[in-house]
Parts: sequence; C-alpha cells; structure tokens
Amino acid sequence: MADPNTPPPIDPATNTATTGHEWDGITELDTPLPRWWLILFYATIVAAAIYWVLMPAWPTLNGYTPGLRGHSDRAELKKDLAALDAERGGRFQLIAEQPVEAVFADAGLRDFAKAAGASLFGDNCAQCHRSGGAGGFGFPSLADNVWLWGGRLSEIETTLRHGIRSGDPDARISAMPAYGGENAILTPQQISDTADYVLSLSSSPHDAVAAGRGKAAYEANCVICHGATGAGDRAQGAPALSDQTWLYAGTKEDIIQQMTLGRNGVMPAFSQRLKPEQIKALAVYVWTLGGGENDPPPAPAQAPAPAPAAPKAAPLR
Ligand code: HEC
Ligand code: HEC
Repeated sequence: MADPNTPPPIDPATNTATTGHEWDGITELDTPLPRWWLILFYATIVAAAIYWVLMPAWPTLNGYTPGLRGHSDRAELKKDLAALDAERGGRFQLIAEQPVEAVFADAGLRDFAKAAGASLFGDNCAQCHRSGGAGGFGFPSLADNVWLWGGRLSEIETTLRHGIRSGDPDARISAMPAYGGENAILTPQQISDTADYVLSLSSSPHDAVAAGRGKAAYEANCVICHGATGAGDRAQGAPALSDQTWLYAGTKEDIIQQMTLGRNGVMPAFSQRLKPEQIKALAVYVWTLGGGENDPPPAPAQAPAPAPAAPKAAPLR
C-alpha cells in the first residue's frame, strides 16, 4: 500500500496518475470519468428533480405528492372509458329503441350488434352451444338452418328472452312424454320397432320389417307432434325426424333412449340477466351464424355466412 501522504505514482507506460492501489506489481490507473458521461449523469439528476415537482412522485402518509401538473393515470382511464361508454351507449340506446328487424336493416347498427353479440355469446352461451354456436349433444347447433323453435330474428329473440322449459312464465314449453320406464306407454319391443320406423323417415339404415311393425305405434303416439312424415312442429319445438340432423344423435340406440326417457332440454331465460338491447344484439349475432331465416327480408347486402363444416359423424341439431 502506498503512503497516503505521498502523491500516487505516475504510471510510466501511459503517463497517467494511478490510484495508488497495487496488487502484485499491477497498479490501477486513475482515469477520470468521460466528460459526456458526467454531463449525462448530472442531467438525469436534474431531470428527476423536475419530474418530482411536476408529476406525482413521492408517497406520503395518506397518498402521494400530486405534482404541479395534477396528472393521474386513473383519471385518464376514466375519461377514456366514459368516452367509450358514451359511444357504445349511444348505439345500444338505438338498438333498445327499435325492433330487432330494424336494427338488422341498418348496416352500421347490424355490424355493431354482431360484434357486441359475439362477445356476449362467449360469456353467456358458448358453454352450452360451443363457440360459433356449433352445438353438441342436447344443445342445438345455432349455425345450421335447422331450427326447433324458429330462426327468424324475432323468434330467436323470444327464445333468448324467455328460454325453453326455463320456468319463465312466457317460456317456450312442450314435453315429449317418456314412453318407456316406470309407467311405460310402449313395450321395449314397440319402442325398438318405432325407432326403426323413425329411422325410415329419414331414409337412414333401418330394419324394414321392424319399421313396418312400428308404424302403427308411431301413428298413434308421435304424429301429433312430429307429423306423419316426421316433418316436426315448431309450435311445439318438436324436431323434424325426417332430416338427418339430430339433437340427441341419430343411432337406433339414441332414438330408443329419447323415446324411453323423453328428455326435454332446458334453455335458460335471459330477460332477467341481460338487457333487452343485449338480447337483440345476440339475436342478430345468432342469426348471422349461418342459419338465420328471413321475415321480413333483411338488408340484401348481407348474405348468410356459409354453413360451417358439418359437425362429426352424426350431425347434431
Ligand atoms: C345451460 C345451457 C344453455 C345456455 C347457457 C344457453 N342455451 Fe340456448 N339452448 C339450450 C338448450 C338445451 C336448447 C334446446 C332446448 C330444446 O331442447 O328445445 C337451447 C336452444 C336455443 C335456441 C333455439 C334453437 C332452435 O333450434 O330453435 C337458441 C336460439 C339458443 N338456444 C340460443 C342461445 C343463446 C344466444 C344463448 C346465450 C344468451 C344460449 N342459448 C344459452 C341450452 C343453453
Ligand atoms: C308432445 C309432443 C311430442 C310427442 C307426442 C312426441 N315427441 Fe318426440 N320430441 C318432442 C320434442 C319437444 C322433442 C325435443 C326434445 C328436446 O328438445 O329436448 C322431441 C324429440 C324427439 C326425438 C329426438 C330427435 C333428435 O333430433 O334427436 C326423437 C327421436 C323423438 N322425439 C321421437 C318420438 C317418437 C318416436 C314419438 C312417439 C312414440 C315421440 N317422439 C312423441 C315432442 C314430442
């Protein structure tokens, strides 16, 4: 170690002062900090001081120093949200004031309703109807043109408002009886034969002899809801049996199950959970999924989107 009272020696190779530190003959040069670096360093200190004065900076016991400019990110966000609300609120207000057909006919409102409906659908409907309304076993596809209760804008709106077998006083209601089980209306043999007859209605593979036996039971029990040719009845939400689209899948086993159990699907009512304008937006969105039906004719520019790829082996309704 060098003596603190003598000036540190000059390094002969570079002619620079050394710090006096020395390890095994290696000494440390006392190179000054570059001027540009020092200026920058002092500038940041000055900038920080100015920032403390102008902007919210230091925590205090019950808050923080607000700064001379009174800036607040939270207030900015509030302002932005209020502006967004005002813009959206205006559109929703327009939707609230008009029947859903008029909303649809207005291209601007329709696009807004579609976008709002899509996001509402994700939050409220997709857990049952799957994303894009693809549907699943017991949950009808909303993207095809096969409807239980109806695919017009107003019909979809009614379904959403009041639900199906939902307990809502204006719910869509019907009940397919259980033909098997406890108080069986039909014997298992009759049920099996009728299932073959049901399959014959859609020209699906079936046992023709059994179907011949099942015809009478079908005519006595089922025609009232499903029709003589199996066309179905929308007034009762009775699905067509003559198409090859199924709500509960379409194997003979599945049909026997449905006849035995008389399952009756429940769709919740949304009139208490969503605002009328949100329900209208949803109706517009569902209509545009691919199966919307016309009445009155909507704006001509909007052709229904092509139906999405047919789901799975047995198409679900
Ligand atoms: C808890 C499950 C569930 C939720 C959530 C649900 N649905 Fe349904 N939905 C059903 C079932 C089950 C049916 C079929 C009822 C039946 O068998 O008649 C149905 C039927 C429908 C129908 C009638 C289809 C037709 O063919 O006539 C529409 C339209 C519909 N849902 C739209 C929606 C929309 C839009 C939402 C969200 C706001 C939604 N559903 C939320 C279960 C649900
Ligand atoms: C009171 C009216 C009514 C009667 C009578 C009735 N059904 Fe149904 N059926 C329905 C309804 C409503 C549904 C739809 C159930 C649902 O949405 O959950 C249905 C559904 C079905 C399905 C399921 C279709 C699919 O797409 O998956 C089959 C199969 C069926 N019925 C067969 C029969 C047969 C066979 C009979 C006679 C033995 C019969 N039904 C009698 C109302 C009826």
